Amino acid sequence: MITIGVIGYGYWGPNLTRIWAQSKKANLKYICDLKESRLAVAKLNWPQTLQTKDYFDVIKDPQVDAVNIATNIISHFEIAKNALLHDKHVLVEKPLTASSSEVKELVEIAEKRKKVIMVGHTFLYSPPIIKINEYIKNGIVGNIDFIQLTRINLGKVKHDFNVIWDLAPHDFSILEYWLNKMPQWIQVVGKAAVYQNVCDVAFINMQYPGDLLVNIHLSWLSPVKLRQSYIVGDKNMIVFDDTHPSEKVKLYDIGIDLVKEPDSFGEFQLTYRTGDINVPRIDNTEPLTAECDHFAECIETNSAPISDSAHALRIIEMIEASQKSLNNKGERIYF
Ligand SMILES: NC(=O)c1ccc[n+]([C@@H]2O[C@H](COP(=O)([O-])OP(=O)(O)OC[C@H]3O[C@@H](n4cnc5c(N)ncnc54)[C@H](O)[C@@H]3O)[C@@H](O)[C@H]2O)c1
Repeated sequence: MITIGVIGYGYWGPNLTRIWAQSKKANLKYICDLKESRLAVAKLNWPQTLQTKDYFDVIKDPQVDAVNIATNIISHFEIAKNALLHDKHVLVEKPLTASSSEVKELVEIAEKRKKVIMVGHTFLYSPPIIKINEYIKNGIVGNIDFIQLTRINLGKVKHDFNVIWDLAPHDFSILEYWLNKMPQWIQVVGKAAVYQNVCDVAFINMQYPGDLLVNIHLSWLSPVKLRQSYIVGDKNMIVFDDTHPSEKVKLYDIGIDLVKEPDSFGEFQLTYRTGDINVPRIDNTEPLTAECDHFAECIETNSAPISDSAHALRIIEMIEASQKSLNNKGERIYF
């Protein structure tokens, strides 16, 4: 049983707070936010907790083992660093920090102090994403030709960080988990339609080793909410629709084969395969519960999390490359 405090009780913090308050692996002691109005809501919903505006109250308490940081991106580094320096384990919302140099600094402190540092890349704990990973790793998809990911909605528009910093951590972490490799290059074009200089629509192209192409469409400016992915392999294809209530993953035994004509001189024929569509049964564990349980287990067993700092660093490096490409009007950035 760990004792934990949640720092940041804006939009996302209440979800984490609910999980920790109901967790059998943790005792939620503190909720911290700079805003009185948010603390008033926290007190009403979770009267058994202590509320504070100063996160040092949380990290100075010797009873507290860990903190879960869900503040605005710019403050992640400072709070996580001070928490580690006070010997607390840290679970930080995505993206871990606002730069790769900050990640490296946190890793150094965490290693010295033997503390767990984990980033809240929730999708790595999501049953449909885990199921697709099984399909990829077991060779069911075959050789992957391309992956297309769409994450669009109307809002929630931010003014401090653009749509890439806000949403790409999800897709980059999913890709890193499925493919276990970094792209060779990344290329981004985008547009700032609402706030000047804050890109709210982005089109990301990437190439991975093995001639695997990826396209990601991110947007806060869309008439509909779509959370859709296509994974196109030479054996099977997958459709992932995270907004579907029950059939989030569909495996299509479908494809096009180029078959050599018998007894011909190099002539080929196209064969269209249209087989079954398989909808696997998927565990309905809430990803956030799995994520928080995993953090508590890593602390108890002194082990590295699935979404550890090395994983977080690769994601930040991909975001930084995306930002550079965006700034340079779609220049290809090579890794
Ligand atoms: N995993 C997910 O799916 C998911 C979804 C949404 C947001 N997030 C992440 O959660 C984090 C918070 O996002 P949000 O949408 O809740 O933002 P938000 O602006 O709604 O809330 C942030 C809260 O942190 C508080 N805060 C800021 N600095 C603080 C400090 N020094 N001490 C105490 N409180 C402080 C603010 O007062 C605010 O209430 C971001 O990193 C975001 O990327 C993750």
